[in-house]
Amino acid sequence: MAERFSDVRVCVFDAYGTLFDVHSAAAKHSAALGPLEQKLSEMWRAKQLQYTWLRSLMGNYEDFQKVTEDALGYVFSTLDLDDPVLFANLMNSYLTLECFEEVADVLKKLKDNGFLTAILSNGSPDMLDPVVESSGVAEYIDISLSVDDIGIFKPSPHVYQLPCDYFGVEASQISFQSSNCWDAIGAAHFGYRVAWCNRYKQEMDRLSVQVDAEISDLTELLPLLGVE
Ligand code: LAC
Repeated sequence: MAERFSDVRVCVFDAYGTLFDVHSAAAKHSAALGPLEQKLSEMWRAKQLQYTWLRSLMGNYEDFQKVTEDALGYVFSTLDLDDPVLFANLMNSYLTLECFEEVADVLKKLKDNGFLTAILSNGSPDMLDPVVESSGVAEYIDISLSVDDIGIFKPSPHVYQLPCDYFGVEASQISFQSSNCWDAIGAAHFGYRVAWCNRYKQEMDRLSVQVDAEISDLTELLPLLGVE
């Protein structure tokens, strides 16, 4: 077990990009998208995140469904796509995103070893609940907490406070896992023990905050927590 993680009782996971593969939405429609698939998917995700940060800064919250739709609208215009059926299909695919392959096994091992588990996500419950159900991991997640309850997106500290309040624990008793570097940094700044799940082998963002561990997928969380 890693010293920094020795007080952890609750494992909190980011949803999109960490448990669920956001690029599996466009992949389901690869025949319709052809060579635009990767560009659309990356631009969609980047715009979606930008809109969360901008709306939070402006104090102009709309839920993640609206933000995701607006981001896809921007991308469709940019790429000169005009296909309402494809638009609707891509949006619907967000409700059945695929899990990364190690996720169910890791969550089960954490539960078997007595850890509490949660999702903490920008996703509104109407987006998050269907994907948790359809991906088959619902039985290993104690609670899905959404920013929708407080009307501001990550990385606001108010968001990271939600699991502390829900479970009645200190930030140092929570390990937080996100593949989104900025989210991992926001969580570390708040005070969680943080494992940045660097699935895409990205550079660490320069934001004057250190995370506690960098892992390449979620199986590497287990030894940090002393789980075989
Ligand atoms: C989430 C985004 C940040 O699930 O991936 O909150």
